[in-house]
Amino acid sequence: MKISSLCLLLLLFLTACSSQDKTTTPVTSNLYPDQTSTGFKQFSKQCSTCHRPPMPNQHTALEWRGVVDLMQQHRAQAGYGAMSEPVKKEVLSYLQAHGK
Ligand code: HEC
Repeated sequence: MKISSLCLLLLLFLTACSSQDKTTTPVTSNLYPDQTSTGFKQFSKQCSTCHRPPMPNQHTALEWRGVVDLMQQHRAQAGYGAMSEPVKKEVLSYLQAHGK
C-alpha cells in the first residue's frame, strides 16, 4: 500500500514536470489572433518596421486609438510617411477587435 502511493506520488511528480516543459515553448508569431484576415496582414506589415508588432490584447480598444495615432507620428518622424486613412482604419479595427 505504501509503495503504491509512493509510485503514485512519483507519477504525479513526473507528469507535473513534463507538463511544465510544454509551457516553456518559445513565443511564436502564430499566437497573434485571426492571422488569415486582411486586418492582420496590414497590421503585421505596418507595425513591424520599427519593433515587434504588439499583441492586440496588450491594450483596450480605446487605448489602441491613441497608440495608433502615436505610431502615425513616429512613422512621419522616421520618414516612413503616415499610413493612409483606409490602411490605418484596417489596422485599428484589427487591434480593437482583439483588444483586451
Ligand atoms: C516609425 C517606427 C514605428 C512604427 C512603424 C510603429 N511603431 Fe510602435 N513604437 C515606435 C517607437 C519609437 C516606440 C517607443 C516610444 C513610444 O512608446 O512612443 C513604439 C512603441 C509602441 C508601443 C508601446 C507603447 C505603448 O503605449 O504600449 C506599442 C503598443 C506600439 N508601438 C504599437 C505599434 C503599432 C500597433 C504599430 C502599427 C500601427 C506601430 N507600433 C508601428 C515606433 C514605431
